[in-house]
Amino acid sequence: MKLTAHKRWIVWAFAFLLGSLGMAVAANDLSLQTSIFSPESAPADSIKHLSFLVLGISGAIFAVVTGMILYATVRFRQRPDDDGKEPPQVYGSNPVEAAWTIVPILIVVVLALSATRVIQEIQNAPKPESALDVVVTGHQWWWEFSYPKLGIVTANELHVPVSSPQKRLPTFLQLRSADVAHSFWVPRLSGKTDVIPNRHNQVWIEPQRAGLFVGQCAEYCGTQHAKMLLRVYAHTPEDFERWASEQKAVQAEGPQVAAGRMVFQRTACINCHTLDNTIADGRFGPSLSHLMSRETLGAGALSNSPANLRAWINNPSQFKPGVRMPAMNLSDSDLDQLVAYLATLK
Ligand code: CUA
Repeated sequence: MKLTAHKRWIVWAFAFLLGSLGMAVAANDLSLQTSIFSPESAPADSIKHLSFLVLGISGAIFAVVTGMILYATVRFRQRPDDDGKEPPQVYGSNPVEAAWTIVPILIVVVLALSATRVIQEIQNAPKPESALDVVVTGHQWWWEFSYPKLGIVTANELHVPVSSPQKRLPTFLQLRSADVAHSFWVPRLSGKTDVIPNRHNQVWIEPQRAGLFVGQCAEYCGTQHAKMLLRVYAHTPEDFERWASEQKAVQAEGPQVAAGRMVFQRTACINCHTLDNTIADGRFGPSLSHLMSRETLGAGALSNSPANLRAWINNPSQFKPGVRMPAMNLSDSDLDQLVAYLATLK
């Protein structure tokens, strides 16, 4: 089949649109873990519905505008028999001007009202008695999670109970910053909320099934912004109770850890970290009291194992250039003893 020039042009345009659509679907598949289109919690769910409305309206506008441009481009393109004269010009038309003023205003009003309604619904959601409170503090470049009523302080991995209609257990998060602006975002659980110094923002999540939900800092906050990752573990209420009691327990230690604890207490570790059973009560870095109960080190920079922990302490900036934790320059034997001690902190 021989295509005329303009038909070939239309075929290319369609191929381009299909290609972009295909790539968008593939990208969404890869990032399903952080997709706002697969919500698992009440606020993320209403955000998804709102996004579909906004996408629908803007998609329709896109189709109409692109369609008109394509039509005009093809229909009124230059032809060999053109006489070179300008087409008739139209100046001033009240009905046309009124239409292109009123229609966009109506569209903007619809978008603004529906967004306002969803924002109000989420921000003014009543907090049930059974809600769990967590204070989230953004630091360069890690997250501190403290559960004031439970007396638990942990880092980077937030543990919450699963909520059900019979037993509602949402988690209300107070967002604070220890330094610069960060942003708390776990796309499948809730909307992005900024973490601003000297300001208390609030966000709540209510996961409906157990599992791991990943997120990350969503506001550029310095060199290691990209490695300020977040993990939210939703547990059945029983599993959550078990986790909480493990975090509260002060652990019994065997004599073999004493040497490692000595190393810890005579280095600068104690200035920045808190650790049960030692003199360390620093708040600049994450609490180490239950270090090995976490799956990652360095706010998701690497997985947590004794070997990785050793490499991390030896030179953290190897994994996270610019990290606030200095290389401690410990001797090999000190490092071994220290890691042997830290590895017992379940
Ligand atoms: Cu914290 Cu980006």
